[in-house]
This record gives sequence, structure tokens and C-alpha cells, in this order.
Amino acid sequence: MEQKKYYITTPIYYPSGNWHIGHCYTTVICDALARFHKMLGEDVFFLTGTDEHGQKIEKEAAKRGVTPLQFIDPLVAQLKDMWKLLDISYDRFIRTTDEDHVQCVQKIYQKLYESGDIYKAEYAGWYCTPCESMWTEAQLKGGKCPDCGREVKLQKEESYFFRLSKYAPKILKLYEENPEFLQPKSRVNEMVNNFLKAGLQDLCVSRTTVKWGVPLPFDRNHYAYVWIDALSNYISALGYLSEDDSLFRKYWAADLHLVGKEIVRFHAIIWPAILMALGVPVPKQVYGHGWLLIGGEKLSKSKSDAVKTELADPYELVKRYGADAVRYFLLREIPFGSDGEYTNEKLLARINSDLANDLGNLVSRTTAMIGQYFGGALPARGKEEGTDGELIATANGLFARVRSAMDRLNAPEALSEIFAVVSRANKYIDETTPWILAKDEGKRARLGGVLYNLAETVRICAVMLKPFLTQAPAQILRSLSYDENAGLESAVFGGLQAGAKIEKLPPIFPRIDIKKELKEVEQLVLSLKKAQKQEGEKEQKIAQISIEDFAKTQLQIGEIIACERVAKSEKLLHETVKVGGEIRSVVSGIAKYYTPEEMVGKKVVLVTNLKPVKLCGVLSEGMILCAENADGTLSLLSPERDTESGAKVR
Ligand code: MSP
Repeated sequence: MEQKKYYITTPIYYPSGNWHIGHCYTTVICDALARFHKMLGEDVFFLTGTDEHGQKIEKEAAKRGVTPLQFIDPLVAQLKDMWKLLDISYDRFIRTTDEDHVQCVQKIYQKLYESGDIYKAEYAGWYCTPCESMWTEAQLKGGKCPDCGREVKLQKEESYFFRLSKYAPKILKLYEENPEFLQPKSRVNEMVNNFLKAGLQDLCVSRTTVKWGVPLPFDRNHYAYVWIDALSNYISALGYLSEDDSLFRKYWAADLHLVGKEIVRFHAIIWPAILMALGVPVPKQVYGHGWLLIGGEKLSKSKSDAVKTELADPYELVKRYGADAVRYFLLREIPFGSDGEYTNEKLLARINSDLANDLGNLVSRTTAMIGQYFGGALPARGKEEGTDGELIATANGLFARVRSAMDRLNAPEALSEIFAVVSRANKYIDETTPWILAKDEGKRARLGGVLYNLAETVRICAVMLKPFLTQAPAQILRSLSYDENAGLESAVFGGLQAGAKIEKLPPIFPRIDIKKELKEVEQLVLSLKKAQKQEGEKEQKIAQISIEDFAKTQLQIGEIIACERVAKSEKLLHETVKVGGEIRSVVSGIAKYYTPEEMVGKKVVLVTNLKPVKLCGVLSEGMILCAENADGTLSLLSPERDTESGAKVR
């Protein structure tokens, strides 16, 4: 019989460098699924990687005066380190800057261009020159740029479009005929109601403004849209359209694209449409999982300031509690498909109650009693009595229950099944009271039988835990002198032979003093935040600029001819400033340090080429420069000798 194939992917990650525990969620689940299917004897290909092109990277690199690759490489290395720490068993780590990927993306564009699914068209929009942004009519605010409020002009630009509109009915049909394609079901409703029902517009799939990307083979002035570039990784990684496409022929179509719910739209609408256009089968399933939340909000670096004390840094977490504990929490705590709250307390509670207490105790009690009563040699299986049958049946049925949960990708349910058996075994110890049996020589055979049943249950739980935890199960199996590489088929009662050497295991998950630990973690988070802030400041301080960079800022002397407080604001003053022959409206946050009366008549230094903005509804066309003392107090900068308004400051 041909070996079953299993192709599973994570999304490819933006190399942001600010990794948090939420980022680990998708990948840890994929890893557990990949390991599970490998243990079922399937031929698994597990793909992950990085999504490296686009404007953000281009800008960040330019800001630092390095090339995009110089900027990204260390971040990619960091991500790989993180996956190593968490024991992620991927088969390929693809980077969208890999040569084979770039070539594949170009071939995909060429193919779609030749088939007419990509076409060139004029794209008309409203262009704001200072913002370098194109807006649609509907996006304008009062006919002006929605960002800066200035005039926009009608501009026509040539772009390449993908005929997404043509595929809307086909995608609806795909959802209808194939309910497994998009899961959970709620995501189907979102896609249909929010996007597909109204029909789809053709998608602009080329850019000319961003140069950090894949150039289109048929028009080198245009670069691939990052999402088409990124999505293609799922087939480029297998050699699609390359000389050697054996992996593609072997593994495609993917069994599962597991993605966060915010990127379902790209995976469940754009991606199948592209594949249909290429004449390639669509993936068997896209699953949009929920988010890890802190304080009800999606974990994200930018919001982390609001989060004072949750330790969300995967490196620190693994260092403190080990990879198994972090993996266990992620796989067990968040109901699959929904969002779940992350707190230090929840993580510690899981470690203590499930890993240290339930599992840890079962293992150490069982191995210790075999050591104490039988010198570390496993006694023979006995005649069944009491609750033996029930324990054996629960342990024997575990594989089927875990398999059923994992077929539905439900790792929390699978783990809860395994831990139910762990609890049943702990209860069995209380029911059979081996320490009392040990006092009666006549009960020796029964004592042996009880300990055999316990050792076997421990072994089955350890085998079943292997896809989820990568260290403890192997440690447990070794202590039972059992093959740590055994497959899931070995999770059947009776695998251990009488006489096997059983080693007493010390507690595999030390109990944590939660109160003390919470305090320590709180301190750690605060110090990490402080270090991060200082690092940011240092980076800002040491960033050198060229004289040309400096020349971009236009500084002039302005004379304040009128000044008033901004209504409803404690901080803002509204100044009318004369700059040479021009009058400007300026808003500054100095009301705590200067009264409007004090301001009038002052000559100040003004940045005169800032994009105008509205502050509290008042137009500000410049910024008055101040020096800031360490305590936050401000002092206006004024020319030392009398200087005419409008004079340039250089
Ligand atoms: N680059 C795109 C994906 C392109 S795939 C063709 C991207 N990258 S990402 O780095 O932002 O996200 C990677 C994965 O991390 C996504 O599945 C995302 O949902 C997941 N998570 C990031 N923060 C998360 C939480 N707070 N909770 C759970 N997962 C979240 O999107």
C-alpha cells in the first residue's frame, strides 16, 4: 500500500524581530500535527519560512543605511533560533528571497499573463503628492487626502491586474461542495458575507513604487504584489514549475494551511483563485485559528506597552520553564478555533497542575514504587481484578480518542484525553493502595500486577504525548527502558516485558512557587521593557544622518503675532506665525510652560516643511522647536540676536 502523504504549512513570517508567544501559536500546532502524522507512519512534509519583501522592509533597511538583506538576515536567524528552542521539526524553511522561490514567482506571473488571467490596465485614482499615496474616490475626505487633508489630483497609472472577479462564483462553489476546504465554519460565513456575496473586484498585483520585491518577467518596472509573492511559497517550496518538481508532484495538494484568522481572506479567496487560474488543485484545507490575547487584545508588539506584566517573550519563557511547558500551554489552553487569554498565572497554573502534579507525580510514584518494592525490575502482568479492567480499557482506547481529536486538529481535546488517563491512573493508585499491599507478603503478586498496570499506562501516555512535548515523553520512555522512537501503534496495553529495567525518575517538571514566581516575572518584564526602551533610544541616538538628510528639514525664524489656547486641550497653544511674507497656523504642546500672552512677539525656530496636520481640529503648518530638560520642562529656542522672520536656520 502506498504510504500516505501529509503536507502541512504555517504562514511565512514577517521578519519583524519582535517575536512574542502569539507568533509561536500557529507553528507549535503545526509541529504537533506534523509529529503526529509522522508517528502514524505517514510521509510528512512540514513547511515554514519568512515573508521578506515589501515596502516596510525596504524603508527599515534604508533608515539604517543597510541593504534589505543585511537588515533581514539577523532577524531570520533569530526566528530560526526560536524554532530550534521550541523543537520545531520543519522540513524546509523557505525565504521569499530564496532564488528558487523568486524564479517560481516569476514563472507564475508569466503563466498567468500568458493565459490572460493577468492583464495590464489603467488604474485611475486620486494622488496626494506629498504623501505619495493613491486614493480611490470613496476614500477621500471632503475631496481631499484622508491622511493630510491636502489637495489631490486625478492620476492614471498602469498596473497589472489579476482577474479575481472571474473566480468569485467558483470559490463560492468550492465552499459549497467542499465544506472541509475552509474551517472553522464561522470563517466561511465571514468570507461569504464580507467579500464574496458582493462579488470580487480584480486585484492589482503589481507595484512600481516598491522596488524590494520580485520584478515581473514581462515588465521589469513592475514588482510582484507581496501577497502573491508570499502565497506562492506553498508551491515554490516544492519546486513547482522548476526543472525538478518531484516534491510538488509528491506532496501537493497541501493537506493543511494553518493560519491566523486575520489572514484567512488571502488564503481562502485569493490563493484558491490563483491556483484555479494556474490549473493547480486547491489545498485540501485552510484553517483559520484564533488569537492569543492579553487583556482582551491581540498580542502584538506595538501594543505591548499597555501590557505591563505578562511575560510574552518566547526566549525568556523557554529559558524559565522549558520548551515542553510552553508547547503544552499553547496546545492545551486555547480552545481550538477561538481566541484565548494569555496570562503568566494561567501558564504557571497549567505547569503546576497538569505537568508537575498530575503527570510528574504519576511518573515519579510509579517508577519509585517499582524501585522500592521490586528493585527496579518490572513485575509481571497479573490477573485482572478491581478497577484494572477499567484502567486498561481507558488506556487502550486513548489512541483512538486522540486520533479522532487530531483528525479535527483539536490538540486541546487530544491533550485533555491524555491527561484524563493520567488522572485515572493517579486515582488507580489511591484505589489499589500499593503501599498497603506491600506490607502483606501474600499480596505480592497483586502488588506486581498493579505496578505493571501503572507502568504500562505511563508508557502509553508517554507515547501519545510525543507529538506535543518533545523532551519529557522520551525521558519517561527511556526510564521504562522502552524505545523512545516507538510509533503510535505501540500505544496498546502489554508492550512492556516483565523484568524490564525501570529507573526512578526525579520530578520531570519541578513544582513552581506561583506567588514568588509571579513577582519575579513581573520584575523581569519591567526590566526587559526598560532595556528595550533604552535600546530603542540608543538606536535613535546613534543613527547618523548625512548633510543631505539634514538639508531635507527646512528651519526658519517665525514671529508669533497671535496666540490662544486650543479649546478642550490642556497642552496645546494655537499660534499665528509670520514667516517672511507668509502667515501660518501652528499648534504646539507648550501650554504648560508658556501662556498665550508670553508667546506673542517672540521670535522662534520653526520647521516649515512638515506635512500639515490637524491637532484637536486645528490646522498646524509647522513645528516650533523647544529644548526639553530631563524633567520634561520645555524652553523655546529663539535667535540670540535680532533676526528677521523668514530667515533660514542652518
Ligand atoms: N507574512 C504573513 C503571512 C503570509 S503567508 C503566505 C503574516 N506573517 S506574521 O508574521 O504576521 O504572522 C505569522 C503567524 O503568526 C500568523 O498565522 C498569525 O496569525 C500568527 N500570529 C501573530 N500574532 C498572533 C497572536 N497574537 N495569536 C495567535 N497567532 C498570531 O501574517
